Amino acid sequence: MGNSQAINLNNITVYIEDGLDAVGKRAADVFCSALTDAPTAAYGFATGSTPVCLYQELIARYKDGSLDMGEISAFNLDEYYPITKDNDQSYDYFMSTELFNHVNVKPENRDIPSGEAPNPAAECLRYEAAIRARKDFKLQIVGIGENGHIGFNEPAATFPATTNYVELTESTITANARFFDSAADVPKHAITMGVGTIMMAEQVLLIATGSKKSQIVRDSILGDIDPQVSASALQMHRNVTVVLDTDAARDLLAQL
Ligand code: PGA
Repeated sequence: MGNSQAINLNNITVYIEDGLDAVGKRAADVFCSALTDAPTAAYGFATGSTPVCLYQELIARYKDGSLDMGEISAFNLDEYYPITKDNDQSYDYFMSTELFNHVNVKPENRDIPSGEAPNPAAECLRYEAAIRARKDFKLQIVGIGENGHIGFNEPAATFPATTNYVELTESTITANARFFDSAADVPKHAITMGVGTIMMAEQVLLIATGSKKSQIVRDSILGDIDPQVSASALQMHRNVTVVLDTDAARDLLAQL
């Protein structure tokens, strides 16, 4: 698998891989080992550019017969609000095209916050209750924003405990504008699992790639636990695995 390194920092296992293929394979190994252990459990998925390498690898393993997702339940971190499911920028649409259309997760076992719900506050309550009703929330996949967000938990005075309705920051709107015709088209709000919701998962798998994430990866793992950097809450979780490419690992390695 080329050059690969594993280190343990503040009780977080960090894998550093050479290239996106290797990141995808390593993240898939972590996911599949959880799946072998708990084939009927609830799993939380993430959107964005980062997990695509993992999803490609999961699709390849499903096609070669080595992966079966037929009994899992799938949740997702977040969704824009408002947005229709058939909008090709919705996270519902993303999950279908990037993963679920190509593997055997049952459609009735998929849940994601609805960008179409008439009342976002009620939708937050519904979604949080659906996750809490599961006593087998096995693993949550997360990417990280350049401002340290996980899900859409933007810098705040306290860590949001539960699924919440958020106003996106300018930094997030600018970062996500690349997927839309213009920044003006990016929805201004989202519904996201809270940091507390994410922390309920038995294991968290954080993936980060590219030099733009290097500084915030270092701050999240080695810096203070601070709600201004929501990923720093993961230092308090008992089972976190981080998979980085060498670019995203640079500042972290420089500080060791
Ligand atoms: P990205 O987004 O994977 O597209 O960089 C990650 C995030 O904002 O959580």
